Amino acid sequence: MAEVSPSILAADFAALGEQIRQAESGGARMLHVDVMDGHFVPNISIGIPVVESLAKATDLILDCHLMVDNPEDYAKAFIDAGAKMVTVHQEACPHLGRLLGQIRDNGAAAGVALNPATPLSTLDEVLGQVDLVLIMSVHPGFGGQSFLPASLDKVRRLSALRRHAGHAFRIQVDGGVSLDNAGLLAEAGCDILVAGSSVFGADDIAGAVRALSARANLPALASA
Ligand code: DX5
Ligand code: ZN
Repeated sequence: MAEVSPSILAADFAALGEQIRQAESGGARMLHVDVMDGHFVPNISIGIPVVESLAKATDLILDCHLMVDNPEDYAKAFIDAGAKMVTVHQEACPHLGRLLGQIRDNGAAAGVALNPATPLSTLDEVLGQVDLVLIMSVHPGFGGQSFLPASLDKVRRLSALRRHAGHAFRIQVDGGVSLDNAGLLAEAGCDILVAGSSVFGADDIAGAVRALSARANLPALASA
């Protein structure tokens, strides 16, 4: 059973309010906000003022994915702007445990993201203090890329590890999520499917959220 977090990276920014309302009418409860600084990833997207505007315009849970260097300098500002979930990259955090604690202390859920080449073992020491683990299923920086199939096994292994250790964090997958893999990902243990182009690139945004959610809630059928 997984839910969809539509990524506004693929939205029409000139029509953002209306497109978000459509995603919400399709059943979305959260909104994925991709923040890129042109350093940690080779692209620049949006930042704190946009989160501030979103927080005024919607009740959806703002799920901010910080693809930035030095995320410790910005996490609190995103929370103050309205982010309810803040995810930082393991690769950008030499003092990961401290930052995760600060995110929680400031009232948001604390997430940590792993690039495709970063092993799960890099999180061994912090799994007890995270609310969310984001498995990148593309190399971060751009929407519209193809899902990396090895991500599926990574989700399975993380899900097994969570079960054995009795942790409660949620598992999120981001990149190339579509009707082709939503069921398999949910079945593998994913709780939140981030979807950009497969939602905001669709003619019927609400219908795309509904279709992905339905697929993610019938994993056995989808993989048959
Ligand atoms: C990529 C971003 C993703 C992106 C996903 O670096 O983190 O959230 O928006 O887009 P799609 O769903 O098009 O792969
Ligand atoms: Zn993202």
